[in-house]
Amino acid sequence: MDNALAFTVNGRPTRLTVDPRESLLDVLRERLELTGTKKGCDHGQCGACTVHVDGRRVVSCLTPAVKVDGRAVTTIEGIGGPDGELHPLQQAFIDNDALQCGYCTPGQVMSGVACLAEGHASDDAEIREYMSGNLCRCGAYVGIVAAIRQTARQAGR
Ligand code: FES
Ligand code: FES
Repeated sequence: MDNALAFTVNGRPTRLTVDPRESLLDVLRERLELTGTKKGCDHGQCGACTVHVDGRRVVSCLTPAVKVDGRAVTTIEGIGGPDGELHPLQQAFIDNDALQCGYCTPGQVMSGVACLAEGHASDDAEIREYMSGNLCRCGAYVGIVAAIRQTARQAGR
């Protein structure tokens, strides 16, 4: 039986009818055309699909869409400024060469934003630990850690 959902995506009220088996990832990409969120493993192991639900990071491939009824979902498309300015962490990724192919990058940025908000960016070891759910096949980890550290410094953390 299909379920009617009402939730916000990047601040926009959204109503949809979904199959109980549909993942949040598939709803975002296939139904709402928010393709910035990437599908890597589709099994909760790579972090490419990371988004925020009520401000907390989740892997959207393992999140049933029905679970976000009444909640606020934020994707990579929703973290910049109103005029398209990059989020400070996105700029820091550029400054620190924190990407190569870019496939993992939206998930890394969403996890990194949450890592900063959680106060888990005090040093490189802590950043590595709290970013360990996000894999990068290109091995851009040094730049990713540096980008998060730079953003934490700018924010006075
Ligand atoms: Fe969701 Fe890999 S696609 S964790
Ligand atoms: Fe290619 Fe991370 S930049 S997988």
